[in-house]
Amino acid sequence: MKATGCYVVTLAFLAFMLGCPHIRAWGIDGHLTICKIAQSRLSKAAEAAVKGLLPAQAEGDLGSMCSWADRVRFRYHWSAPLHFINTPHLCSFKYSRDCKDADGVADRCVAGAVNNYTSQLLGHGRGASESDYNQTEALLFLSHFMGDIHQPLHVSFADDKGGNTIDVRWYRRKSVLHHVWDADIIETAEERYYDSAPDGLIEAIQQNITSKWQDEVEKWESCGRNKTACPDVYASEGIQAACQWAYKGVRENSVLEDDYFLSRLPVIYKRLAQGGVRLASVLNRIFE
Ligand SMILES: *[C@@H]1O[C@H](CO)[C@@H](O)[C@H](O)[C@H]1NC(C)=O
Ligand SMILES: *[C@@H]1O[C@H](CO)[C@@H](O)[C@H](O)[C@H]1NC(C)=O
Ligand SMILES: *[C@@H]1O[C@H](CO)[C@@H](O)[C@H](O)[C@H]1NC(C)=O
Ligand SMILES: *[C@@H]1O[C@H](CO)[C@@H](O)[C@H](O)[C@H]1NC(C)=O
Repeated sequence: MKATGCYVVTLAFLAFMLGCPHIRAWGIDGHLTICKIAQSRLSKAAEAAVKGLLPAQAEGDLGSMCSWADRVRFRYHWSAPLHFINTPHLCSFKYSRDCKDADGVADRCVAGAVNNYTSQLLGHGRGASESDYNQTEALLFLSHFMGDIHQPLHVSFADDKGGNTIDVRWYRRKSVLHHVWDADIIETAEERYYDSAPDGLIEAIQQNITSKWQDEVEKWESCGRNKTACPDVYASEGIQAACQWAYKGVRENSVLEDDYFLSRLPVIYKRLAQGGVRLASVLNRIFE
């Protein structure tokens, strides 16, 4: 009886978390997918460094900590604007114009955060003996924000809060457009094709990374000009995907069903693949 009650409370809490329209992040499975793909592609040195930084409770699994940044966003309220980018109603991203928080403070967006935590892990600004910053937190923030920046509606219009104010129906359920891209598309895919769990989905994406996308992977990984991470590139792709796919054809109270699901799912697969491949490449460059 006790155990059942606990289970019900846990389920209710999960339903609340997943149903809450104003949480702005890939759902748990989106982040898990990106971190699992990334960890499978780490160099020996990066794998060792990551394992050294992960807290004991993670038992060496980066995937298990990939939503940590969402769990601390109320405790670390300063981190809330670091999960996304608000753009004007244009299908482009410009760092100097768009990377700021609601008070206009520069760099306070997900692109600035990727640069920030990359540079902390590189040890820039390190004192004689130890870093100024908690390197475990830097790893967990970077792993999460590399995911968020690949969710098209995390780089999208300010006036609709990244699709959070656009009410839609996802099949028969009420949702908001932002949540469709964080979680609904992924969950529907898991239910239909992967036994309602992320494992099969992760495996299928990994298979396509080594076949279908094989020729593109090197380009995804490369950053050019000796840079460790390229958040401006990821963000530009994101706002373009938001315009081309996420917002396209959607109005207030649109009913989104198979037409939308089947045409957008490949976009989500590719963004998850790119997020995972790039998180690995950034960590491999940091810890080379
Ligand atoms: C950079 O990281 C520090 C430590 O977590 C944090 O206090 C600061 O707000 C971050 N700034 C950005 C732009 O990410
Ligand atoms: C670093 O951050 C982690 C996660 O918040 C925390 O558990 C750990 O105690 C911190 N380490 C130090 C030295 O503050
Ligand atoms: C993998 O590629 C095949 C062939 O294009 C496609 O049918 C399938 O949906 C893709 N799956 C994923 C997870 O990308
Ligand atoms: C890029 O890397 C090359 C070779 O490692 C180095 O000579 C050059 O100074 C670097 N350029 C910048 C802008 O850091």
